[in-house]
Order: sequence, then C-alpha cells, then structure tokens
Amino acid sequence: ATLSQDQLKEAVAAAAIDEVRPHLHRDSVLGIGTGSTANRFIDRLAELRHDFAGAVASSEASAERLRSHGIEVFELNSVGTVPVYVDGADEVNAHLHMIKGGGAALTREKIVAACAERFICIADGSKKVERLGAFPLPVEVIPMARSYVARELVKLGADPVYREGVVTDNGNQIIDCYDFMIDDPLAMEARLNAIVGVVTNGLFAARGADVLLLGTAGGVERLTP
Ligand code: A5P
Repeated sequence: ATLSQDQLKEAVAAAAIDEVRPHLHRDSVLGIGTGSTANRFIDRLAELRHDFAGAVASSEASAERLRSHGIEVFELNSVGTVPVYVDGADEVNAHLHMIKGGGAALTREKIVAACAERFICIADGSKKVERLGAFPLPVEVIPMARSYVARELVKLGADPVYREGVVTDNGNQIIDCYDFMIDDPLAMEARLNAIVGVVTNGLFAARGADVLLLGTAGGVERLTP
C-alpha cells in the first residue's frame, strides 16, 4: 500500500524527534517552525516536554500549539541561539536550499533559522525538486511598497500575485512570485533582499538546511548538503 502524504509527514516528524533527542537537556530551548509537518513534530514533542526547557516559535500559530501542550514559549531575544531549528519546506533541492513561506511565516522562520546551530528540514517526498520555483516564491513586503516591489519582481522575470487578505505576524503583506524558475537560489535570495520595501523572501539558500528528513514510500531518507 502506498503511504498518504499525512503518513509521510508523521514519519518525518517521528524521525525528527530522534534527530533532536541529543539536544534535549534541562536548559535547552528548541527552535520550532510552522505548518502541517511542523505541527506533527510539535505534537510528538509534547511527550518529551519535561526533558527540555521550552521553545522559540516561528509563528503565533506554532506558539499557541506549543503552549497548548504545556511547552513553554520563549522570546528569541531572551534566548540568543537555539541548538536546533525544525521546520518544513514548500520545496527543497539537493543542496538543501528551500522555498518556504507557503504559510506566510517566512520572516520569523528565517530569523529563528539564523539563530540556530542546526536546521533540520522535515518534508514529505513531494517537496523535493531539481530546481526551485514551481512553488510560487513568497516575498513579504511593507504594505506601502507593495506595487513598487511587484514592478521590480516583473523586471526579474516573475509573475507577482498579491496574496489578498493575508497579513503576516509582522503586520506586512505577501506577494507570491509565479512562473519564476530559480537557477541560482543564493544570488536570487540576495537580489530580492536588495529591493527596497522587501522584508524577506522565501528563499532559504544563504542559510539552507543542514539535514533533510524526507518521507518517501521506501522510508525516511536522511540527506545532507
Ligand atoms: C510556513 O510559512 C512554511 O514555510 C512552511 O514551512 C511550509 O509551508 C511547509 O508547510 P507544510 O508542512 O504544511 O507543507
């Protein structure tokens, strides 16, 4: 029988628990991501809540879920660095560069990832790609800059679409870049960051993942860059 996407997400969440186990100490604060795969990891972490101090979350939604399991949520500024950050991805390539932000949490995800000693990406097999870009790349923008940024994105070859009705945890807006195949994620990440009014973009290349736990029909594959 083939495994459903849900079962693959469960399997990688379980594998991620084994991956973070060495980092669980009385004082350790874990970095926790956002999305349906991260949610499964949060739910499994609940059983281990007495083995570590708490977590820093990359979204209000994840913070709420952590608290509902009795896991203390800390402010990143009071923690400094985290030993591991566990999060999903919308796309990931062989270099463990990713597109993230399908859930609009990209900026906080990038901040927590930047403060993490290790980034563990958990994803079902459908997320693995040769080239990033079939998934529309999210760009978080300061609201007044939205149409300026959209015009700049067109110049770069993207088809920008305003994600209507979405306000990020930071009070900003999201533009999704369609039809934007990305050959050089590292260069494009920097190029997009240089547009005035862009807060962050969903390319995680400068800080990619250190480990990818990929759920496939044959089991969980553990990949490194
Ligand atoms: C949230 O903003 C995203 O970066 C998520 O990590 C990404 O969308 C993966 O979500 P799923 O685990 O729900 O596929």
